[in-house]
Amino acid sequence: MSYPVTRLRRLRRTKPLRELVRETELSAAHLVQPIFLTAGEGVREPIEAMPGIERLSISESVAEVTELAAAGVRAVLLFGIPSSKDEYGTEAYDEEGVVQMAVRALKEAHPEVVVMTDVCLCEYTSHGQCGVVRDGADPGDVDNDLTVELLAKTAISHAEAGADAVAPSDMMDGRVATIRHQLDEEGHSRVPIVAYSAKYASAFYGPFREAADSAPQAGDRRGYQMDPANADEAVREALLDLEEGADVVMVKPALPYLDVIRRVKDETGAPVAGYHVSGEYSILKAAAAAGWIDERAAAMESLTAIRRAGADILITYFAKDAAGWIAEEEARR
Ligand code: PBG
Repeated sequence: MSYPVTRLRRLRRTKPLRELVRETELSAAHLVQPIFLTAGEGVREPIEAMPGIERLSISESVAEVTELAAAGVRAVLLFGIPSSKDEYGTEAYDEEGVVQMAVRALKEAHPEVVVMTDVCLCEYTSHGQCGVVRDGADPGDVDNDLTVELLAKTAISHAEAGADAVAPSDMMDGRVATIRHQLDEEGHSRVPIVAYSAKYASAFYGPFREAADSAPQAGDRRGYQMDPANADEAVREALLDLEEGADVVMVKPALPYLDVIRRVKDETGAPVAGYHVSGEYSILKAAAAAGWIDERAAAMESLTAIRRAGADILITYFAKDAAGWIAEEEARR
């Protein structure tokens, strides 16, 4: 006689039984909401390709974080859209830049909220590359070492403003070591580095580039972002970043790379962040708007899958909504 099939069914039979054996929890404690900052006063600019997400001026971002905290989201990731761009991305490391000012305002209003900052030059350079391109070089040929110096400067300016963590997203070689070293030298040894370690050259960043006005004017990012075909390389990148002093390693995008999240988690044992990126968000929003998909169910399933794959931290444009849905489910139990 054998019973295994019936037993399995019995465990799925009722909601309390299912919840008793559930392997993955989705809770608001793991969620990070990205925020796009822009200059000005009282600005809330919708982003066409990302329904529900807006570019916010500083005072609006403070109001937004009040709402996020009330919903249970305790971490944000800041991106800045500067008022002017140049070849060296100068506003990225300007003490009075939009991110630096927002960090001060947010930490003052919400000291309990974790404020992370994206460290990259692509929103700040006139050509839209993630670093400096020397005169006469090909458009996608970023000067690695010079860029790393400017990134470290940017990270330090964020730490000086009070950021709780810095997140370099540029994919230059050696940037984690340099940023760690310079943060330590400047007295910011307690500021952790959330490294975008396995950042793929992905088509799913399209809507973000509209939001941040950061599409490369010429060339692409395949010279420094990863080939979607590679997974061993992602593990190597994560191990390298950890050796250089990263505290958290990130895989980005998330859903097309769940295998990579799992491998990075298993092979490093480090805290892993999964970034459910703009395109992943927009796909669900568009299908839901057309009435083709249940937005809430599809979003929750996606986020649970990223957690199940091994991500500790979930960076997602759904953070605020997801926190609300999670609270609703808790209340219904
Ligand atoms: C900056 C950066 C990008 C994203 C995060 N940091 C854009 C890019 O590399 O083109 C994408 C995030 C998203 O799509 O949600 N380098």
